[in-house]
Amino acid sequence: MIELFDLKFKNPVFLASGVFGFGLKYKLVTRAVGGIFTKGITLLPRMGNPPPRIYETCAGVINSVGLENPGVKEFKKHILPKIRKINNRIFVNVAGFSVEEYAQIIEEIGDTVTGFELNVSCPNVKEGGALFGQNPKMVAKIVKIVRKKTKLPLIVKLTANFCDPMIVAKASLESGADGISLINTIYGMAFDIHTKKPIIRGGLSGPAIKPFALYCVHRLKDLKVPIIGMGGIMSGSDAYEFILAGASAVAIGTAVLRDPYAPLRIIKELNFLLERGKNV
Ligand SMILES: Cc1cc2nc3c(=O)[nH]c(=O)nc-3n(C[C@H](O)[C@H](O)[C@H](O)COP(=O)(O)O)c2cc1C
Repeated sequence: MIELFDLKFKNPVFLASGVFGFGLKYKLVTRAVGGIFTKGITLLPRMGNPPPRIYETCAGVINSVGLENPGVKEFKKHILPKIRKINNRIFVNVAGFSVEEYAQIIEEIGDTVTGFELNVSCPNVKEGGALFGQNPKMVAKIVKIVRKKTKLPLIVKLTANFCDPMIVAKASLESGADGISLINTIYGMAFDIHTKKPIIRGGLSGPAIKPFALYCVHRLKDLKVPIIGMGGIMSGSDAYEFILAGASAVAIGTAVLRDPYAPLRIIKELNFLLERGKNV
């Protein structure tokens, strides 16, 4: 049992956004975890990108899913009630394409969930394609507007792509965020050496990014706010490293692409290490 945002969670292992659908298929896993970050929800439904969407590299995957989701209305009406029946600790991952969209999505969801995770790594159409998350002023603007719309825990999910997560974390917290989750995927690409053309450009996740993710979490540890650490966690000892780096909880992403039951094993292994750690 852990306490975050004055709420109790059965353990510190969460499902990361986007890799487990909405957690409706592997109910055993969805039920066992401390909480769930949903797939990124946008205002309107999105088909996502054409294939290839996932490409396996030597130590992780590059994805270019493109935020496929049914849109906030359909999510709230048909999907959310089903998830709630399995595990009611739900953070909706909110992906806006403008500052106003973040607010609209949060207003639509209301107080029917545990909290929100703001995905500030989406292209900002109005700002000419720049990423929100690399711009502390833009993130501050989003958080301030969203803060007025909800009293629920507000977690900002940071990118560490070409920017210092500390600067964006501070801007988020000063603007009213309650916690930080990190890291989102980092830029990656792969080439087909026969056609000499790129196969995919997208976000790299998995074991390849773990040391970098750990560094980013450790960089924020003195902020003394809840930090949910993620990036390449495949085992309980990986998760424990994130706790040692300063995370209050962890999230499992790419590991479930290899083994959907991985979170069950990770919870067990992490609990063992946390217990053992008390005596070291
Ligand atoms: C296929 C895939 C889809 C993802 N979709 C989202 C998303 O919709 N929103 C989001 O904030 N992060 C998304 N992520 C990022 C993960 O939640 C996580 O931050 C990242 O993959 C690092 O953790 P991992 O190495 O354990 O996968 C996605 C990652 C993958 C691999």
